Amino acid sequence: MFRSHTCGELRESHINESITLAGWVQKSRDKGFMIWIDLRDRYGITQLIFDEERTSKKLIEKAKLLGREFVIQVHGTVIERASKNPTIPTGNIEILVSDFSILNESLTPPFTIEDETDGGDDIRMKYRYLDIRRNPVRENLVFRHQVTMAVRNYLSNKEFVEIETPYLIKSTPEGARDFIVPSRMNEGQFYALPQSPQTFKQLLMVGGMDKYFQIVKCFRDEDLRADRQPEFTQIDCEMAFVEQEDILLTFEGLTRHLIKKIKGIEISNFPRMTYDSAMKLYGNDKPDIRFGMEFGELNEFAKHKDFAVFNNSELVVGIAIPGGNNYSRKDIDKLINWVKRPQIGASGMVYCKCNEDGTYKSSVDKFYTQEDLSKWAEATGAKAGDLICILSGETNKVRAQLSALRMEMGERLGLRKNDEFAPLWVVDFPLLEWDEETERFHAMHHPFTSPKPEQIELLKTAPGSVKANAYDLVLNGNEIGGGSIRIHDKETQAMMFEYLGFTPEEAKAQFGFLMDAFQYGAPPHGGIAFGLDRLVSILGGQETIRDFIAFPKNNSGRDVMINAPSYIDDQQLKDLNLRLNEK
Ligand code: AMO
Repeated sequence: MFRSHTCGELRESHINESITLAGWVQKSRDKGFMIWIDLRDRYGITQLIFDEERTSKKLIEKAKLLGREFVIQVHGTVIERASKNPTIPTGNIEILVSDFSILNESLTPPFTIEDETDGGDDIRMKYRYLDIRRNPVRENLVFRHQVTMAVRNYLSNKEFVEIETPYLIKSTPEGARDFIVPSRMNEGQFYALPQSPQTFKQLLMVGGMDKYFQIVKCFRDEDLRADRQPEFTQIDCEMAFVEQEDILLTFEGLTRHLIKKIKGIEISNFPRMTYDSAMKLYGNDKPDIRFGMEFGELNEFAKHKDFAVFNNSELVVGIAIPGGNNYSRKDIDKLINWVKRPQIGASGMVYCKCNEDGTYKSSVDKFYTQEDLSKWAEATGAKAGDLICILSGETNKVRAQLSALRMEMGERLGLRKNDEFAPLWVVDFPLLEWDEETERFHAMHHPFTSPKPEQIELLKTAPGSVKANAYDLVLNGNEIGGGSIRIHDKETQAMMFEYLGFTPEEAKAQFGFLMDAFQYGAPPHGGIAFGLDRLVSILGGQETIRDFIAFPKNNSGRDVMINAPSYIDDQQLKDLNLRLNEK
């Protein structure tokens, strides 16, 4: 056998056993007459010892040549350590080496392979394979594996069947741009990589596979953020013969199971909130409900006086910051500057201190009485000792700004606790969303989403107010999943395409296959897709999905390790009937 044990395995019970280990040299300490080496593999670290009294001179000389990250195979005997190390599981023993061989040498790594490394992000991305040797990265990948396995087992036990769908397809509209693949055999024609398997999973429902899932790569050419990668993984699911309630309960079950299995936490409360309430109370369709600070709308109590800023605003809205009454003038100025940063974009901030003696002191005392201010406190739920922060302006913008402030304060006050999990269904999303740029409606979720049947008529008169049977699953302020009940008849689907500005010819060219299928007994169906990367990172207590992806892209969508994307040579371009590189 190449190795008898791993580097994380040996204990006092193994003392006097002859063993063989293999791994990487983490570090070596050379005292002249004695050499200690930390040998590392995926499972842990075991200390090796060479000393003048018990090890041959030749072997000691050879050990002195070992550099960091050399790969070695070691034969020796397990002995008790003279000075024990209680911080590692193998800390009571060490290996008295009788022989070893160098399996491979290593250049000096460009950063230290330790939990706390000296390597910055860029260098670690370039040498990702070395980064993966570090505990935090390796543990994240193993954690991802555990979550994935738990998902597969759970769904499989519930009779979901995992079915693969193709990657070389026709565009599926999920709101981002497609990645395009030229077809060599069909000149001038292109495949698109799937933004999701949406249409295929619906076709599987027509095919009678009434419970489908797939852990699947999706590709979206969009601007990247901490929670977005151009290629990412979905837990994609679809069910036939269901209503929205069936889907919510099924995937609430999966979420509860995962949080219990992975974190050992029982979720007692799995609330639901309409999209409209989420926007009104949190200014956001993915509220973090681990903490309060709900919005209080103040139009009624703020727009009747001579304060022009509020009078000219569509919405005046505030939040109460617990304990904020202590903030100095300087602290408050800093907050005001924070909301005025271009990323947030508020024009200013009004504040009101709620004093312990029940009086109020606001930045607009000139215009408002104590009685007025007490109403602000009531509406925002502010108590004595709190600070009310108030923003005003156009409804959607001001909600987004105050939501950003709420999240920031939640973070600063330590209210966004990593070990607390607060899932939430946001339901009743609008069917359509007005796009200022193209001056027309877009599907808010995707064009296959069913309007609420009782509101279909409204599409003609007030399309913006029509709600969909669409839902998002939110966990700790992150959208970890989204889905809907689908349209399953040709007429409604054709009508939706028409509302979305497709001519019948365009709709046929792009989605004719789906509408054709709907004519052959398509069952009622619906589904959801979870973002696996997001789910894993939030369960892991972080919000940067990159840390849970073995080989992620950087913020410009580049893989700096393999240097992709890259140019291809002229012959390849020619074969693909693409324009030649300009010289
Ligand atoms: P949606 O577009 O909401 O729905 O995507 C589902 C979930 O996928 C995750 N996600 C991403 N994760 C990382 N990087 C990205 N670029 C990225 N984009 C999305 C999110 C999101 O909630 N076909 C529908 C699902 C359905 O209707 O069943 C769909 O793809 O966590």
